[in-house]
Amino acid sequence: MQKKIKLIAVAVLSAVGLSASFAQTDSHEPLLTVKEIMNGLITPTTATIWGAYQLESDAQWQEIRNAALSVIAAGNLLQLGGSGEGESAMAAEADWRSYNQLMIDAARQVIAATNSKDEEALSAAGNDALYPPCESCHQQYQAR
Ligand code: HEC
Repeated sequence: MQKKIKLIAVAVLSAVGLSASFAQTDSHEPLLTVKEIMNGLITPTTATIWGAYQLESDAQWQEIRNAALSVIAAGNLLQLGGSGEGESAMAAEADWRSYNQLMIDAARQVIAATNSKDEEALSAAGNDALYPPCESCHQQYQAR
């Protein structure tokens, strides 16, 4: 009897261990394609940032800040590339990483501008810092 319980315990424990290790592997795999990240996250959030104009209330500034946080989250995902074919390999390239990092840095500049509620700094960050890495990355990778 004692032995049987022990056996069951061992079986349960190893099943738990097994599923935990599967879960861990899965969590590092991209779940979205690059196109889904672009259309679902990057496009709407950058539209919010680029469309910012005459911000007055705290809530309006907060919305821009949230959009910039989402760009950083998307950049975080793009470090893995995407779930599409060849997209992980693409993301391992130095150029990809550098364009992606420039986009993340630009989003941080946007956040800094929202902290000081400086609309001039916001539009400079949007136009001079956030836009160029989109162009560079697309020129090199979009047609692949
Ligand atoms: C690190 C690389 C990289 C950066 C940075 C990047 N993109 Fe992209 N983007 C891509 C790739 C690759 C595609 C092509 C995806 C495909 O067609 O499968 C793409 C496609 C797109 C598309 C077209 C989606 C479609 O339906 O075909 C839009 C819109 C887009 N990106 C917007 C942006 C904007 C805006 C930025 C900058 C804020 C940006 N991207 C920054 C890599 C990047």
